[in-house]
Amino acid sequence: MHQGYAAVLCVLAVLRLEAAALGECELARLLQDQLGYEKRLQYTKHYFPVGYTLRVQYEEVLRPANITRLRAGAASEASLRYLWFHVSAQAVQRLREVLPEQHPSWPYARDLGRLLDALGREHYGQYRQSDVAAAVAELVQRLHSGERRPKAVRPKALLDNCLRVLRMLFQVPCRWGATESGGEAGSRRGGGGGGGGGG
Ligand SMILES: *[C@@H]1O[C@H](CO)[C@@H](O)[C@H](O)[C@H]1NC(C)=O
Repeated sequence: MHQGYAAVLCVLAVLRLEAAALGECELARLLQDQLGYEKRLQYTKHYFPVGYTLRVQYEEVLRPANITRLRAGAASEASLRYLWFHVSAQAVQRLREVLPEQHPSWPYARDLGRLLDALGREHYGQYRQSDVAAAVAELVQRLHSGERRPKAVRPKALLDNCLRVLRMLFQVPCRWGATESGGEAGSRRGGGGGGGGGG
């Protein structure tokens, strides 16, 4: 039911992005679906040569540990979502830069880019640097200023981080249930304490 709903939304989003005024949570949800494990695996791993890496800046690698650190430094949740948005848009841009239009991952990267564009337009475009935590503003500035790219990262790793941080930042404000967070955590860590009692 909710899968179907998401699919419909996705089609709508792709067809009418110009007109769409989807909420931040709806767009984040669509992104989460697009970043599902099977798609990530296929489009950012199987369709790339073994061991392929992209060159990125250090600031373009945003992991849950970064968020934990920034939270400890009292960055607001809105600031963190703003940071995640900028890093993710950059990550997808890096991916798009290396894909010719004929590549089977090209439409996937384009659609991710569209969803992020919509998020930027609808929800993050109005932010000014002065509205966000100083630490975050500085990171975003560095993100857009540097052209040195000393770090080699697998394309899938970029999107893995994008999804993990997305869940970390949107799950609570968007009231996504713990059981909806999708296959990967469950299938990868067979033993662990997912704590998903459902409900
Ligand atoms: C995240 O932390 C790593 C070090 O663990 C650092 O290199 C990177 O710049 C940080 N990313 C952001 C966006 O702060």
